[in-house]
Amino acid sequence: MNIVTTASSDIIIPVPVSLVQKKGFFNLNRETKIYYPSSNLDNDFTARYLQHHIKSITGYDLQILSTENFYEKGNIYLILQNEVANSNPESYELSITENSINIISDNSEGLFRGVQTFIQMLFPLKNKIDLAANYIQIPNVEIKDYPRFQWRGVMLDVARHFFGVNDVKKLIDLIALYKFNRLHLHLTDDQGWRIQINSWPKLTEIGGSTQVGGGAGGFYTQKEFAEIVEYAKKRFITIVPEIDMPGHTNAALASYPELNCDGVAPELYTGIKVGFSSLCIDKEITYDFIKDVIREVAELTPGSYIHIGGDEAHATDSVKYIKFMERVQEIVNSNNKKMIGWEEITQSKLNPTSIVHYWRKADYVLAGIKQGNKVIMSPSSKVYMDMKYNPNTELGLNWAGYIEVSDSYNWDPSTQINGLNEKDILGVEAPLWTETILNFSDIECMLFPRLPGVAEIGWSPNEKRIWDEYKIRLSNHGKYWEKIGLNFYKSPQINWE
Ligand code: ACM
Repeated sequence: MNIVTTASSDIIIPVPVSLVQKKGFFNLNRETKIYYPSSNLDNDFTARYLQHHIKSITGYDLQILSTENFYEKGNIYLILQNEVANSNPESYELSITENSINIISDNSEGLFRGVQTFIQMLFPLKNKIDLAANYIQIPNVEIKDYPRFQWRGVMLDVARHFFGVNDVKKLIDLIALYKFNRLHLHLTDDQGWRIQINSWPKLTEIGGSTQVGGGAGGFYTQKEFAEIVEYAKKRFITIVPEIDMPGHTNAALASYPELNCDGVAPELYTGIKVGFSSLCIDKEITYDFIKDVIREVAELTPGSYIHIGGDEAHATDSVKYIKFMERVQEIVNSNNKKMIGWEEITQSKLNPTSIVHYWRKADYVLAGIKQGNKVIMSPSSKVYMDMKYNPNTELGLNWAGYIEVSDSYNWDPSTQINGLNEKDILGVEAPLWTETILNFSDIECMLFPRLPGVAEIGWSPNEKRIWDEYKIRLSNHGKYWEKIGLNFYKSPQINWE
């Protein structure tokens, strides 16, 4: 008995650059082996990751073999070779014929991305009943693929509600399947400080002790944060830590009276209004504090970026804000990191390496590109994953509007802002703010099914993104989400049958 999977053209998200469906099938069975190049540990991880996903979807527990010589037919081969004529480190080729499944890249990152494409081909297989099958027929296909943008991010706000290490790891695994390569963690805000800073321990002792609604809050020890960084790195995802300043700082101000201009610590804050707090930009101790925090966070962060927020500093003198951000930029750069800030930072004089994070105001972004800065696109009316789908959505907010699946899919970064061009854009990011998000099931419900669409905007050529075709592919992903018990919103725009 055999089972035939759906054609790849009806499954893969993000849609590949080139996909040619061919006649015939590869027969995947219990005897199929996974071969991978023995040259490095990254590939060892990727082979095991593939084995794990094949097992969890099909029940087949395939053997893995490490070798430099692939002669035997009938298997899955992860191949590192310099024949993928594309300088992009994430590019890969995937070819399925009667004889073999070949995933080929110049390097380990591309192999990992290609493996995600193959795993998705198994998504529509219904459930463990498939175990009765002697083999699974996977339609032959030739895929060549690489990303449109180098930055494809998701942001999780762990400040308003705290999410522990296991939740973050679960999120990393979900976003890896869609070829995201950045996880931005919004680590500090008025309601909580979530990363241990050894030189300022009260930040977490006091500032980490609560959250929106008054719950217990929490924080990552440095060891736990390092564990998250490593877990993400194995999946070729860079953790981008955000320490928001000078506003959104009540948790820090409540922890240390000396950081306040009047020397008096405010109460901890568990509401959801914004824009009332500010570091004291006239006090030198503020800069000592920032230097210590950025130094410790930079030491924990192998990635190139530190996000310093800079948004909604309504309680900060606007002239002093400009100088403040320039000083912060120096501190970040002196730790060998590139500074990222929300769009408001373009009021300051920025170094060309600094990155502008768009969320609402085009004028700020245009001021940034005039200074030579690149832009991450997170238009709140399209990709703020905390916005409700419609007026009946239980969770979320609606200040940027209601965002149905089609709204978050049908837009293009390079035509979003007049005067902003493809070359100015580093990529896209989908933020999830957590005023109303209490647990992982809530996270799932807001991210799915919108998030795969953002992944596709970030990866796929614009002309390949066709809503009517995307709807079919998304529906096939729904079959997998059902199988793994993911709590996704059953948008009426999609036929989930
Ligand atoms: C933001 O939504 N305050 C960046």
